[in-house]
Formats: sequence, structure tokens, C-alpha cells
Amino acid sequence: MRSSEHRRARAQLAFAGALGTAGCQGRQSTLDPRGPEADVLYELSSVLFIGSAIIFVLVIGFLIAAFLKRPKQVDDQNPEPEVRYGRARVRTVVVAVAATAVTLITLLLYNLGVSRALEARPENPLEIEVVGHQWWWEVTYLGGPSGQPVRTANELHIPVNRPVSIRLKSRDVIHSFWVPNLQGKVDMIPGRINNLVMEAREPGIYRGQCAEFCGLQHAKMAFYVVAEPAPKFEAWLTHQASAAIQPQDALAEAGQKIFLGGPCALCHAVRGTLAMGSAGPDLTHIASRLSLGSGELANTRGNLAGWILDPQHVKPGTRMPASHLDRQSTEALLHYLQALN
Ligand code: CUA
Repeated sequence: MRSSEHRRARAQLAFAGALGTAGCQGRQSTLDPRGPEADVLYELSSVLFIGSAIIFVLVIGFLIAAFLKRPKQVDDQNPEPEVRYGRARVRTVVVAVAATAVTLITLLLYNLGVSRALEARPENPLEIEVVGHQWWWEVTYLGGPSGQPVRTANELHIPVNRPVSIRLKSRDVIHSFWVPNLQGKVDMIPGRINNLVMEAREPGIYRGQCAEFCGLQHAKMAFYVVAEPAPKFEAWLTHQASAAIQPQDALAEAGQKIFLGGPCALCHAVRGTLAMGSAGPDLTHIASRLSLGSGELANTRGNLAGWILDPQHVKPGTRMPASHLDRQSTEALLHYLQALN
């Protein structure tokens, strides 16, 4: 194994370990449906694929047969076979056109039925709003434990076996919200609200991905959906609704000062402090998240340091500017942020 491959494998392992998924970085496949909506889409795509394959084989078969079939010998004295041959050809074309029309219309009606079923509004859904930004996801639980909205970013937690209704918006350009294992993609269009309903049948970590080209870092605009049993989800939401933990020691206190006194607080919010920026992700419980930089890095101390000191290296073009901090200040800031669980 070459050393670069070795390094990559180790990094992937560290990432998987950080996610607690024992060797997987979260599921991401349309061929592995994990919820009722994904089941329906899987069935639809299977029917369309198998149907198209059968039609393809039939068409190619007839084409080959037509090439191989030799016209009957005709002569001027006896034009009858030519006439018969011509009639048969017309009949074949009419039958083929009718069969094509019936097949396409049937598939269209089936497709429309599936789309309508997917748009149906479920009873008692969990309501979440997700706003797309270049290049991260603002996530708001509309009904928190006290009825107040709860804000987080780049990670959704959902209870299993309960439909989740997601309002999709965009703050800048068109993005597209896509969790392949749970639902089809739906665009997030500036000035418009689109809706998506999805449900996870079993606990797991599902990777989501922006599915509409939205600029330089489109490919690195990812997120995670953590599906968990209802009590665990409720506990998570209650914790996310709480204000940030106050510094527990002198180093954390120094870190908080750097955070509040520097440019961090202009773009980020930490509830319970004076930091109320909204241009970047809410960091109230940053340490509780799986990833940094929208699914790009595992949430480890080293990655956090790299992201703060040189974000343009990780995601060129990101709105997050580099922080010019000395070693001591960096240590303090990391200590403060890593305690925000
Ligand atoms: Cu956001 Cu592509």
C-alpha cells in the first residue's frame, strides 16, 4: 500500500471512528431504502428500469428480425406478395405505435400517482426548517421542548418511525436537499418554500448531500441525518434547546473572551453569550456534532484547529476567514469550543 493510500485509509478510519459507525461514513445510497418514502421511490425506479430494459430488448429484437427478414420475390406479372407485404408492414407500425403510447401513458400515470403519494401531508409530523447557504445547512426545529424554535446546523436528528416534514428554503442560490436512503431530492429555491416529508425506519446515520450545483464547494456541502429512538431524540432536542455551557475553567474563560472579542462572534451565535451572528452556523452545541465544515471533517480537536486557522485550505471559497491566532490563543479557543457539547 502506498503511503498516501495508507494515510487516506487511516483518515477514513478516524472519521468512521469519530462517527461511531464502525467502518462506515454514514449510509448514502438510493439502492438501500431505509424509510417508506425511499421504498416507494425504489419501487418506482425499479419498475421504470425493468420496464425500460424489457422495451429495449424487444425493440432491438424486432430491429434485428427486420434486418434478417428478406422481402419475398416479386415480379411484374404477380404484384400480390408486394401488396401483402406492404399491408403487414403498416399493421406492424400501427401496433408498435399503439403499444408505445399505451406503455408511456401507463408509466406516466403510475409516476404521477407515486409523486402525489409522496406529497401527501402526514399526521403529526416533526417540523423542521432547513435553509441552504453557500455552503452549509441552517437547521431549525420549529417546535422545541418549550415551543420555541431550536437552531443548529449541518446535522439533523430525527426520531425513527415518525414522519418528518421539512420546509426547504435558500438564503442565496439554488441548493437541493437530498438524503438518498430516505427520500428523493427537493430543490431549495431563493424566495420560495418547498416541502419534503421523510421518515427513517431504523436508527442509523444517513449522509445527505446538496444535489444542485451551487458554486465552488457544492460537492462539499454535505450533512448527516441521525435517526434514533424517540426518547433519545427528545433528550437530544432538549439539550440542543438549552443555552451553551459557561466556561468551567480559566482556559475556557480565556477562549470565550477570544471568541467574543474577535471576529468569530460577528458571524456565529453561541446562545447564552453576546455572540449572535447568523452568517455562519450556530455554535451553541458545536462539540456535540459529528462533523465540521458541513460534513467535510470529523469533529476532532486537530480538524477544528485546522478549520479555524486555515479554512480556505479545506474549502477554498468558504465565507469563513482564517483566524490569525498565536498558539496560546488557539489552545484556549479550542478548549472553549470543545466544551460546547
Ligand atoms: Cu448547495 Cu450544491
